[in-house]
Amino acid sequence: MMNQLDDNSYERLLEGNKRWSKEKLAKDPEFFEELTKGQQPSYLWIGCSDSRVPANEITDTKSGEIFVHRNVANLVIHTDMNMLSVLYYAVNVLHVKHIIVCGHYGCGGVLAAMDNRNYGLVNKWLRNIKDVYVNYKKELEEIPDQQKRANRLVELNVIEQVRNLAKTSIVQDAWKKRSLAIHGWVYGFNNGIISDLDCRINDINDLDPIYRYE
Ligand code: CO
Repeated sequence: MMNQLDDNSYERLLEGNKRWSKEKLAKDPEFFEELTKGQQPSYLWIGCSDSRVPANEITDTKSGEIFVHRNVANLVIHTDMNMLSVLYYAVNVLHVKHIIVCGHYGCGGVLAAMDNRNYGLVNKWLRNIKDVYVNYKKELEEIPDQQKRANRLVELNVIEQVRNLAKTSIVQDAWKKRSLAIHGWVYGFNNGIISDLDCRINDINDLDPIYRYE
């Protein structure tokens, strides 16, 4: 049955789902019953929409362990109601202990932001990455190799998004009550390894005073 389905067919996904559900039940008859009881994830993941970076798969975690938000180039934009709603819910209702911004080398969004082509509507989103580029222009343009420069911008973009999270009143209000760590990671397709960029922000003291709210 499976082999008759075209690789691009939508039916293939539904078949895959049935197979997956069967395998889960065979290994753990209570698997789905546990999920119906609710979720208590300790992590919020902010990652790229790229199909090659599935949060649960690359961290070897199960359903229920990570609350996930993904967009083009894993950006944290202060006017993005979608991201803010996910963040608010994760912090204030789910009480996650860690927020992870995970970028990836070879990110199409970052690469597109580095050239001058007109991508239409998505220009507005990529503009935010161009701003990161300008902030670190000197460091970036000292890197002669194009790919290494792009890799560095991927890392700097993650670091900036970690800072953007710390600048939100949602995160700052949480810090008044409890501990909450924000991490910046980057994933590589070459070896499947996630590297910690060591830009963790644990509290308001790690943030420039101008961004601190009373
Ligand atoms: Co990407």
